[in-house]
Amino acid sequence: MTEVKMTVNGKAVSGTVEGRTLLSQFLREDLEMTGTHIGCDTSQCGACVVHVDGQAVKSCAMFAAEADGAEVTTIEGMANADGSLSTLQQAFQDHHGLQCGFCTPGMVMSAAALLAENPKPSEAEIRHYLEGNICRCTGYHNIVKAIQAASGQDVAIAAE
Ligand code: FES
Ligand code: FES
Repeated sequence: MTEVKMTVNGKAVSGTVEGRTLLSQFLREDLEMTGTHIGCDTSQCGACVVHVDGQAVKSCAMFAAEADGAEVTTIEGMANADGSLSTLQQAFQDHHGLQCGFCTPGMVMSAAALLAENPKPSEAEIRHYLEGNICRCTGYHNIVKAIQAASGQDVAIAAE
């Protein structure tokens, strides 16, 4: 067992983990932060994406011990300080970028990482960046629109 310490959504946390404990497991089971979803556990689906030191990472593809000392941000850390949805989250809602919502935490975290490095991505750039995030419901169209809208690009609000 190893002791790990990291900062999660601005808060110092620590725990004792096995060498094989995945970061996704540590977040969900030890910290009880279940916003990070697990869709496959084999690094295929992207539902578990979080930010580690500012980089989008599939948390099922990283051991918790590897994140020792890191700054981690999860979907729980994406809302505004007053608890309201961030611009990106609101855009997912406004543009119907989700149906079942299972992929949504990972989509939002990947999209946030994309917008941090490319504030006005084209549709092609968004689609390319989201290659590691699988959505079984939406056909991606409204997710792409939501990300374009969050980046200040003009897209029509989806019909109710
Ligand atoms: S649960 Fe991590 S990629 Fe699917
Ligand atoms: S909204 Fe259902 S998997 Fe994406």
